Amino acid sequence: MTKIKELMKPRLLTGDTPTGRLHLGHWVGSVENRVLLQDDYDCYFLIANIHAFTTRADRPEEIHQSVVDILLDYLAVGIDPKRSTIFLQSEVSALSDLTYFFSMLIPFPRLMRNPTIKDEIRDKGLGDNYSFGFLLYPVGQVADILAFRPQIVPVGEDQIPHLEMTREVARRFNQLYCGVDSHAEDQDHLALGGLFPVVEVKLGRSRRLVGIGQPNAEGNLLKMSKSLNNAIFLSDDPDTIAKKIKSMYTDPKRLKATDKGSVENNPLWIFHEAFNPDQAWVTEAEQRYREGTIGDVECKKRLIEVLVDLIEPIRQRRLVYENNLDQVLAILREGTAKANDVASATAKLAKAAMKQLYF
Ligand code: TRP
Repeated sequence: MTKIKELMKPRLLTGDTPTGRLHLGHWVGSVENRVLLQDDYDCYFLIANIHAFTTRADRPEEIHQSVVDILLDYLAVGIDPKRSTIFLQSEVSALSDLTYFFSMLIPFPRLMRNPTIKDEIRDKGLGDNYSFGFLLYPVGQVADILAFRPQIVPVGEDQIPHLEMTREVARRFNQLYCGVDSHAEDQDHLALGGLFPVVEVKLGRSRRLVGIGQPNAEGNLLKMSKSLNNAIFLSDDPDTIAKKIKSMYTDPKRLKATDKGSVENNPLWIFHEAFNPDQAWVTEAEQRYREGTIGDVECKKRLIEVLVDLIEPIRQRRLVYENNLDQVLAILREGTAKANDVASATAKLAKAAMKQLYF
C-alpha cells in the first residue's frame, strides 16, 4: 500500500544555481518549504552548475566549491536522499540534447523580451558583454523542467518568465510533434497525446527576506544576498551569528533604550517576526520598543538565541557531512544516475515524436 502511494506521488522539480552557500533568505524563501514537500511529492532538486557558467565562466574553482556547498547545505537542512533526488545538471546530457531541440521552438527576439533576462543584464552590469550562453540559459531551464515532466515547479517570482517560456515550449512541441490541437486547453495537453505537461505556475510561500545591512539611497532595505555581504548563512557558527546580529542595522534614530523606536522597516523586528517561535513575546517587545521601555541589547540577545537554535543543528549536521565528503558525493552520483534515467527516457520519447529515432 505504502509502495503504491509512493509511486503515485506527483513529481516536483526545482533547483538552484550554485553561487555560494545557502543563507536565511533561501531558508524562508524556499528551502524550509522543500523539506516539508518531500512527504507529498517525488522531489527532484537540481544543482544548475552549467547555469553558473553563464556569468562566471572565468571562475571554475568557485563554481566547483559552490556545488559542494549547496549539496552539503541541502543535506544539512534535511533534504533526505532516501526520499528525494539531488542531481547535477552537467552530468545529465539529455538536458543538453533537449535544450538544442527546444531552442528551435523559441523565436530569438522572444528571448530578449524576457524580463528576468533584462533585469539580470542590468543588475549584474553585463552591458553588451553577455554571452550567447547567457541568453540560452532560460531554454536550458525549459529542458531541466520538461525532461522530468513534473506536476509542480515551486520557484520564486523572478523565475516566472522562465516558467512562462516552459509552458510555451510545451504547447508548441505538443502541437508540432504530438498532434495536439492549437486550441487545446493547457490542462488537456497530456490527455490529447501531448508529451509535455503545460506546467502550472505555482509560487512557493516565497517571502523575500531583507539582509542585515543599511538601506540603499532610496531608503529601501536590500534583499539578503551573499554578494551584498548582508547574509546570515545556514552554516554560520554561534559566534559569527552573534557578531553579525550585534552589528546589524536597526533603527538609526534610536540611540538609547529609552528612545522611542520604529519597528517598521527594522531588520531586528523583521527577523524576530520571521524566526522567533515565541510570537507573543515579539508582539509585546515590539510595543515596548515603540514606547522606549526595552533595549536593543536585550532584543538582539533574544534574536541571537533564536537564530542559533535554528542554525546550530543545521551546522552540526553539515559538519558531519563535511567529514564524509565521499559519502556526500556518492549521494550526488546516485541522484544524478536516477535523474539520467528519467531525462534520457524523456529525450527518447521526444526524439520519437520528432521522427528522429532511426535505430
Ligand atoms: N534559474 C534558477 C535560479 O537561478 C535555477 C534553475 C535552473 C531552476 N534550472 C531550473 C529552477 C529548473 C527551477 C527549475 O534560481
